[in-house]
Amino acid sequence: MSEAKSKTGGLAGVSAGQTAISTVGEGHGLCYRGYSIDDLAEKACFEEVAYLLLRGSLPTRQQLEQFRSSLESQREVPKDLRDILEKLPASTHPMDILRTGCSVLGCLEPEADSSQQDAIAVRLMATFPGMLLYWHRFHQEGVRIETASDADSLAEHFLEMLHGKKPDPLWIRAMDASLTLYAEHEFNASTFSARVTVATRSDFYSAVTSAIGTLRGPLHGGANEAAMELIDRYQTADEAEAGMLKALENRELVMGFGHRVYKTCDPRSDIIKTWSKKLADSVGDSRLYPVSERIEQVMWDRKKLFPNLDFYSASAYRFMGIPTPMFTPIFVCSRISGWAAHIFEQRANNRLIRPSADYVGPEQRPFLPLEQRG
Ligand code: COA
Repeated sequence: MSEAKSKTGGLAGVSAGQTAISTVGEGHGLCYRGYSIDDLAEKACFEEVAYLLLRGSLPTRQQLEQFRSSLESQREVPKDLRDILEKLPASTHPMDILRTGCSVLGCLEPEADSSQQDAIAVRLMATFPGMLLYWHRFHQEGVRIETASDADSLAEHFLEMLHGKKPDPLWIRAMDASLTLYAEHEFNASTFSARVTVATRSDFYSAVTSAIGTLRGPLHGGANEAAMELIDRYQTADEAEAGMLKALENRELVMGFGHRVYKTCDPRSDIIKTWSKKLADSVGDSRLYPVSERIEQVMWDRKKLFPNLDFYSASAYRFMGIPTPMFTPIFVCSRISGWAAHIFEQRANNRLIRPSADYVGPEQRPFLPLEQRG
């Protein structure tokens, strides 16, 4: 059996540390600091959730107002960073824009010591949407948008900068719920990257840059973009069924399905599916949602595989007019809250993360000088 498929390949089932931030997986349910994801997605706004993750408890009304105004006051992307964003090619993947933007901000406003970590977390949360959309609108339309704004929420700020007008309230609520669903997920690959980086006593920006690079791959955050490409292949539900049967026959990996820690369902999927349906109805969709449902049905009937959060996020985002390459960057705009909470937690009780490996290479052998190697 290859290492990747062995029991501990990919560290499957291995506990890599303790956390008080979230519970994930069968038997636990998904909870952020003890609150169920169903309650949070339905009853809290993303800013409350981000506060909960960063500070450990839900905010009072006054604390929430202060947190919101601190996010609002820090939205403007610095001029030096905007200049760099203008110079980056229009063909750049938006995840590379955020990875670079984070890194540049780390040069312009470096972290002198860990007492600044909370302020940096807020600054990154406030500026990520502006970095992304400043670059996007500049290269797509030749406009230099205002990144400072008095929008009430990150969801509204994002959609307003993207579309250049006040968003539909239904879209704001759907986007807000989606940000909550993406905010945190225990020791997933990108969070673990952030923890590994910061455990070397590196700085906050380096940890987040590592995390963005890790999130980019299609087995992790990039799956929502890949799921959209899959759904887009089909014009009707019947076509989707035939295409999926063929894909499964060819043992294709179907993006947006399956999960390392969930074995029967992803608790976030039904929530985003409900939003996708509401948005589909609001835009009069008769293709993407039925195609998505049929793909879900085939995957369950044939493979007992269930959609993860990324699958119905794809159609939900499309209904809100969000370009596909921005799907994973939205994940960043939200997950920065979870990454930051993990960086704080790692630093509070730090030990270098350095596992060992089982050596499977050649036995020790004599060194042959170059002239004797033929
Ligand atoms: N499509 C088709 N088959 C899948 C599958 C998928 N999306 N997910 C898992 N499987 C199959 C695997 O091929 C494997 O079959 P095998 O034992 O015959 O080889 C079996 O189910 C177990 O999968 P495994 O690869 O061991 O699971 P993992 O825990 O290593 O991987 C994921 C988990 C998430 C990486 C995997 O499900 C996947 O690649 N999903 C698609 C990408 C995705 O949506 N990622 C976002 C996750 S939130």
